[in-house]
Amino acid sequence: AARSPDNLRCPIVVIMGHVDTGKTKLLDKIRKTNVQEGEAGGITQQIGATFFEKKTLEAQTAKLNQTEQFDIKIPGMLVIDTPGHESFSNLRSRGSSLCDVAILVVDLMHGLEQQTIESLNMLRQKKVPFVVALNKVDRCYAWKTCKDTPIRDALKEQEAGTISEFRNRALDAKVQLQEQGVNSNLYWEMGDDDWSNSDFIPLVPTSAITGEGVQDVLMLLCQMAQRKIWKHIMWCANLEATVLEVKAIDGLGMTVDVLVVNGYLREGDKAVFCTLDGPIITEIRGLLTPPPSREMRVKSDYLHHKEVKGALGVKVIGNGLEKVMAGTPVMVVGPNDEEEDIKAEVMSDLTNLQSKLSTDRVGVLVQASTLGALEALLQFLREETQPPIPVSAIGIGTIHKRDVTKISIMNEKGHPEYATILAFDVDIEREAREHAQEMGVRIMTAEIIYHLFDQFTRFMDELTT
Ligand code: GTP
Ligand code: MG
Ligand code: NA
Repeated sequence: AARSPDNLRCPIVVIMGHVDTGKTKLLDKIRKTNVQEGEAGGITQQIGATFFEKKTLEAQTAKLNQTEQFDIKIPGMLVIDTPGHESFSNLRSRGSSLCDVAILVVDLMHGLEQQTIESLNMLRQKKVPFVVALNKVDRCYAWKTCKDTPIRDALKEQEAGTISEFRNRALDAKVQLQEQGVNSNLYWEMGDDDWSNSDFIPLVPTSAITGEGVQDVLMLLCQMAQRKIWKHIMWCANLEATVLEVKAIDGLGMTVDVLVVNGYLREGDKAVFCTLDGPIITEIRGLLTPPPSREMRVKSDYLHHKEVKGALGVKVIGNGLEKVMAGTPVMVVGPNDEEEDIKAEVMSDLTNLQSKLSTDRVGVLVQASTLGALEALLQFLREETQPPIPVSAIGIGTIHKRDVTKISIMNEKGHPEYATILAFDVDIEREAREHAQEMGVRIMTAEIIYHLFDQFTRFMDELTT
C-alpha cells in the first residue's frame, strides 16, 4: 500500500528524564500495573516497551475529550521506557534515536536535573518533538487528590496556597528551561503562535500516583502525532527493526525482543542478526507479544502471531539467537536481496565499538547483558574512571569457562590486576566460577553498573597500598 495520511502507524513514544522522576510510575499508571516496585533498587536498567491500543488511548482521554473533541486516528502507541540513572546515557541515546515523539519527565519538586538536561539535548539534537511532564504535582502542599482527572479540573479544586506553590514551581521549571534555550509554557496558556512554533514546548503537570494530568499527556501526544509528525509516521511495508534485548525465557529458550518500527515481520522470514562472532541468518519460528498495556520486559502470557506490523515490540523465537546483540538492526533477506550486503549492514555498529578497545590488548574483560549496557560500561570506564580502566575484551551474556581462560592470560602478561571480569547483569556458569578460582581470575558482579566501578576501584586501592 502507498504511504498515506489516512494510514498512520503507531508513533513510538520515548519517556526520558533524570533518575526517579517517575517515568516508570507514569507508565504503570496508564497500564494499571506495578512494574516499578519490582525493579532492583527501584531503578530502571533496561529499555522497556508497552503497546497501547487505540481504545485504551480513547478510554484514558475520555474525560478531557469531552471538551477537546479530538478524533484519535493513530492505531495505538508504542511507549519506550528508559533508565534515568547517569550510567545509562547510551540507552537514553538509543531511546531518543528510536522514537518519533517524547515525554521528558521532570520532578516538579526538583526542577531540571543533570540527566533532564542531557535528555533534553538528545531530543533537540535529534529534532524529536516532546512534551514536558511536571510530575509529582501531588507533592504540592495540601494537594487535594482528584484521581485520574484532567489537570485543569484538578487545579480548580485546590486552595490558594497550593495553587501558589504550584505556580512558583512551574515558573521555576520554565525559567530553568529558558536557561537551556527552551521556550515553554503550561500548555493551556500557550497562544496560537506558540503552538505553530515547533520549538515551543508544552508543559503538563502530572501525578503518576494519583493520575491528575495523565489524560492531558496522552491527548497531547496523540495531537502531536497527528498534527506535527504525521508525514513521518505514515505506514509503509518495508521492514525497519532493531533488537531491544536478548534474553532466555523459561520454556522458550533464547529470545530476541525486536522493535519493529515499520513494515512487516513474519513467521518463516529469513532474518539477519548481528553477533560478536559475525552475522547470523535464522528462520523466524515464532513471534510473541505481551498483551496490550503490558510491559515487554516483564514475563507474561504471550500472544502468538503469524505476522506483526510496525510499530510494535515483539519477541522473536528462532535458532542460534544466543549471541545476538541488543541495539543492532534486524533485516530480512528478500527474494531479490544480496545476502552479503545485508550482513555487512547489520554488522556496522559493532565493528565501530570494537575499534575502541585497548589496542595493546592489556585490560579487563567486560561482560554485560546487552550491547547498550556494554556500551554504557565501556563509556563509563573510558570517561568517568581516573585513571581509565583499560578493557581488552568484551562479551555479551552468560560467562563461560572459555571467557575465564581468555582473560587469565593477563596473569601471564604480568598484569594480574586485569585478570578480572567485570560482569553486569549476567549469569556465571558453575564451571566458569571454579575455573576462575584455579586460574586466579576475579569475577566482579553487580546489578547496578556503578557498583562495579566501586568494587574495581577498591580492589585497585588494596593493590597499591
Ligand atoms: P528511573 O527509571 O530509575 O530513572 O526512575 P523513574 O523515573 O522511572 O521513576 P520511578 O517510576 O521509579 O519513581 C521513582 C519514585 O518516585 C518512586 O518511589 C515513585 O513511587 C515516586 N513517584 C513517581 N511518580 C510520582 C508522583 O507523581 N507523585 C509522587 N508522590 N511520587 C511519585
Ligand atoms: Mg524507571
Ligand atoms: Na526509579
